[in-house]
Amino acid sequence: MSTSKKAYVFMSFITALFIVYVLYANFVHDPEATVFLSHKTALKRALNTTVWLKVMNVHILFACTAMIAGAVNFSKTMLQKHRKFHRMNGYFYLISVLIVDVTSGYMAPYATGGKASSMGFNLMNIVWLVMTIVAIVKIKKKQVNSHRKWMTRSYAFVFTNLTIHAITALLHDGVGLAYTTSYTIAVYGSIVCLMVAAEIVIRTVFRKPSTMI
Ligand code: HEM
Repeated sequence: MSTSKKAYVFMSFITALFIVYVLYANFVHDPEATVFLSHKTALKRALNTTVWLKVMNVHILFACTAMIAGAVNFSKTMLQKHRKFHRMNGYFYLISVLIVDVTSGYMAPYATGGKASSMGFNLMNIVWLVMTIVAIVKIKKKQVNSHRKWMTRSYAFVFTNLTIHAITALLHDGVGLAYTTSYTIAVYGSIVCLMVAAEIVIRTVFRKPSTMI
């Protein structure tokens, strides 16, 4: 199996596992987000839990569709045999990113860790959307390699939640930092880690130029 195929299978496996986990954790295990909300102790503005929960559910559902749509579009076979589907699915990915961004914009002012986390999430909103739009502009100009690079950078951000939780667990449970401090560091840490991860994928898995025109 080629390196890119192995990487694709590995990425799809992590994505599928994470989607099952997120859906189970948020819709079955703790649908009221009791544990997550328990960390929001010093909010500057009152939180309407009913609205927040609805917005978060939409956020999670479209985050999962972005994960699936993106993963499917990285498949070489899909691109080679179903170009039209790749294009439509790409726009579906864009719409999902937009919805995740908008819902994130609503939740950011109430983020765990206060203003610092909130600013980190807003920064992520801008960076993610810009990267996705750049990727689409590149393919409109028929620049396949640049499109693939920018889509890789964009897709890395679907692992935001996974990375935030991993860094928070490391700092909170591992190092013993306060949960909110760990969470805030994790918001910024995830931006750096995901951008670095994307560059590593571009320079290793996608080292050779695409043969598709
Ligand atoms: C695409 C994959 C993503 C998934 C599966 C996902 C999932 C979730 C989940 C389950 C939560 C609830 C809290 C928790 O358990 O962490 C959440 C909260 C949140 N997410 Fe996402 N998310 C994703 C991407 C993003 C991105 C890219 C952004 C920013 C651009 C973002 C911004 C937020 C914000 C602001 C909150 C509220 C945080 C808080 O209240 O402290 N998410 N997300």
